[in-house]
Amino acid sequence: MSDHLQADFSVKPTLVGERVLLRPFLLDQDAPVLRSLLQDPEVGRLTGSSHGPADREPWDEAAEERMRAWYGTRHEQADRLDLAVVERATGACVGEAVLNEWDSGNHSCNFRIALAEAGQGQGFGSEAARLIVGYGFAGLGLHRISLGVFAFNPRARRAYEKAGFVVEGVRRDALLYEDVWVDDIVMSILAPEWERHHGHPETAQG
Ligand SMILES: CC(C)(COP(=O)(O)OP(=O)(O)OC[C@H]1O[C@@H](n2cnc3c(N)ncnc32)[C@H](O)[C@@H]1OP(=O)(O)O)[C@@H](O)C(=O)NCCC(=O)NCCS
Repeated sequence: MSDHLQADFSVKPTLVGERVLLRPFLLDQDAPVLRSLLQDPEVGRLTGSSHGPADREPWDEAAEERMRAWYGTRHEQADRLDLAVVERATGACVGEAVLNEWDSGNHSCNFRIALAEAGQGQGFGSEAARLIVGYGFAGLGLHRISLGVFAFNPRARRAYEKAGFVVEGVRRDALLYEDVWVDDIVMSILAPEWERHHGHPETAQG
């Protein structure tokens, strides 16, 4: 497939939508929201980064240092794209959207997103997904973008469906949360599907 665009993940674009834009992190400006995201037990549960409330560790200097080191180096990463999701009306960061696990030979990667509570439930998530996924296909020449969403997160699943992801399978009992096994639903979107609906499968013709 030599006609494929060679993906250049070292470019960090600003992607402008109607209500949100995605841009590289501005650590000093974004730190309060990123800190709250990392500390939010519900976000930890929904993203699978926690096995239960007992997992919670206090936010100490070391955690702050790790957070600053992580977000302060996202612009240097040549194999993934991490962008802040910003509400255009206020200019405030409300979360992050990420293309990671890039598989260059297969022109594919993974998508993940997390919004802080104040940014949830207003359509920002599905718009941010459309922006970064659209860039993944049109700007990076990807063929496939996939994600995992836990069965206990129907809001995220719905947001992904609205943006054009389709369910392709289930990783059964992939997460143990508070001694309960939870399925991980695998969803994906392919370049020809994006070509057809540009992230609006429910209103696209034919
Ligand atoms: C998941 C997330 C990115 C979605 O973004 P969002 O801006 O909240 O979602 P949107 O408003 O774009 O869309 C949510 C959709 O789910 C629907 N929804 C909300 N709660 C729901 C529920 N319990 N069951 C089914 N659908 C639900 C909404 O009505 C909306 O659909 P509609 O527009 O057809 O009415 C965001 O909520 C988030 O980051 N949550 C915390 C972390 C997380 O879950 N990350 C994803 C891990 S896979």
